[in-house]
Amino acid sequence: MCAADHSRNGEAQQVEQPERRKLLGWAVGLINGALLLAVFGPVLGFVASPLRQRRSGKWIPIANAAEVPSGEMKEVTFSVRVEDGFMVADRKYTLYLRRDADGVIALDPACTHLGCRVRYQPEKNRFLCPCHGGVFDEAGKVVSGPPPRPLERAPVKVEDGRIWVYREA
Ligand code: FES
Repeated sequence: MCAADHSRNGEAQQVEQPERRKLLGWAVGLINGALLLAVFGPVLGFVASPLRQRRSGKWIPIANAAEVPSGEMKEVTFSVRVEDGFMVADRKYTLYLRRDADGVIALDPACTHLGCRVRYQPEKNRFLCPCHGGVFDEAGKVVSGPPPRPLERAPVKVEDGRIWVYREA
């Protein structure tokens, strides 16, 4: 072996060293990534699981059917257990129930203008909004004022002598 051969081998080793280091760097990075995923993946999955749960609704009995005579308005307040992510709370809701020829309707008292709570005035047979003077009839239709649409109606049914409303939970 001559001096020129030694010199060429030395150059080849110098060229191979950076490639090997690069390969080792990638391998170490890959192993570290896999370890981090193995350790934190289940933890992140556990932490995020309540946020991924789909919200579902349920039917809630809020009054006895006999308590809502035909043609009369009844204000009913009830609470619903709501699970939102990690929070669990009992939320209170109010609805106005009215029985007419078509059955029972459940009106949400939130004004459709800016959300103020309307009050039913039995002597006028109207819902009045204290904020900007919106007026709704007993079926929730706009009579006058700025509200752009009728009061919202909650899904309602009468079953087993009780009035049920459907709420997101
Ligand atoms: S919020 Fe009811 S009329 Fe404006």
